[in-house]
Amino acid sequence: MQTFSFSPFIFNLPKPQIPPSFIPKCHSSIQSTDYETERGLQFQVGDSFFRHESFIGRDLGVLSAAHYKRSNPELRVLDAMCGCGVRSLRYLAESGADFVLVNDANEENRGLIMDNLSQIPKNLEGKKKWVITHLDANRVMSECYLQRDFFDFIDVDSFGSDSSFLRSAFNAIKMDGLVYVTSTDGYSAGGHRPHNSLASYGAYIRPMPYPNEIGLRMLVGGAVREACVMGYHVTPLFSYYSYHGPVFRVMLRVSRGRLIDMRHYGFISYCRDCGNSQTFTWQELGKICCSNCSTKPPSGGSLVVSGPLWTGPLHDGAYLAELLDLARQWGWIGNGMGLELEKVINLMIGESDPKLPSGYIKIDQIAKRAKVNSPSLRSLISTLQKEGYAASRSHIVSNAIKTNCPMTTCISIAKDLNNSTTTTQA
Ligand SMILES: C[S@@+](CC[C@H](N)C(=O)[O-])C[C@H]1O[C@@H](n2cnc3c(N)ncnc32)[C@H](O)[C@@H]1O
Ligand SMILES: [Zn+2]
Repeated sequence: MQTFSFSPFIFNLPKPQIPPSFIPKCHSSIQSTDYETERGLQFQVGDSFFRHESFIGRDLGVLSAAHYKRSNPELRVLDAMCGCGVRSLRYLAESGADFVLVNDANEENRGLIMDNLSQIPKNLEGKKKWVITHLDANRVMSECYLQRDFFDFIDVDSFGSDSSFLRSAFNAIKMDGLVYVTSTDGYSAGGHRPHNSLASYGAYIRPMPYPNEIGLRMLVGGAVREACVMGYHVTPLFSYYSYHGPVFRVMLRVSRGRLIDMRHYGFISYCRDCGNSQTFTWQELGKICCSNCSTKPPSGGSLVVSGPLWTGPLHDGAYLAELLDLARQWGWIGNGMGLELEKVINLMIGESDPKLPSGYIKIDQIAKRAKVNSPSLRSLISTLQKEGYAASRSHIVSNAIKTNCPMTTCISIAKDLNNSTTTTQA
């Protein structure tokens, strides 16, 4: 087991505008078929845990790190659970990281990681830009904190709902640095393990019709709470759900000063009777009811409440627009390239309208309640917008909308759209 000792690295390297193109060294002992390729970089995955499908999550991390480097003197990255080291490789080669601490608890990955990183040239002082360790992620981050060796960007690509990494990462991050965290606990997000979500993220999660958005809000909420304990606050720059796994990934900016305004850390209710969702602040505890059904007595157990969790915007739209621009400059998107990445970022930009509430509504749910055929997503969104409501698609579910329009009005609009289609056909 390697122990390590670091002092802050300060290099005055020029800020990269485009990721350097790498011609990977072909290791003589390895057949070319053993290599995976991502954004033109080659690496081996061996027996490590690697999912090709997670490339969008890696792309978003690489873009964020490069974006950070553009306005900061250096970029020191801690890749706390590196697997085969693909992210470290990409942060070094594409984001222009000056240094990466590359960690994975599994020592058996060492040779693989070393081979993959051997294609990274040394810095101007002739030193390697990376160091590999095999420690528990909490330990490596805590050691960095104790040595006052802080990082600009920390990536914790963990499994399950282990939230103990949040505090360690916040300890080891520089102020205004970025922490990229993960949860893969779909059961908790779906409300099937409320005691687990309570233990991990401090949120009692009940089954709701938008579980994967709840999963993101649960993770951000847990981070808000941990940061608060330490006198910090976090801002979600983007919150990305991917159904492979499932994986909930959130990019957080960590800043000094406890969150005073708890407006966006509260409770979400869903009324099974009428399909309405609402958010409630702490001050409104005790007054929770469905505003749509409040005139009639609620049927038993019709109102489901989850929380506390993050109820504010899932993303910073202006930040995402800058990432999109960077991806375009790098040639990752445009000319028919990178359609999936472009689509996801654009959907997230649409979702970042602060007027949009928590949750999404599946078109089928509206159609079922309206007893009509499902309207097209496009016509429903454009009608809602014409009526003055905020409306967007959801990056999580393709046949759903996000809107601040109450369910009852959505139902009336769906009926009107159905009537006008029927009239046109007749
Ligand atoms: C999801 S995989 C990492 C995948 C990699 N980041 C990628 O993008 O391909 C998680 C990794 O964390 C390592 N790991 C699991 N528990 C750990 C811990 N407590 N501390 C450090 N590493 C850990 C595993 O060996 C595994 O390689
Ligand atoms: Zn109701």
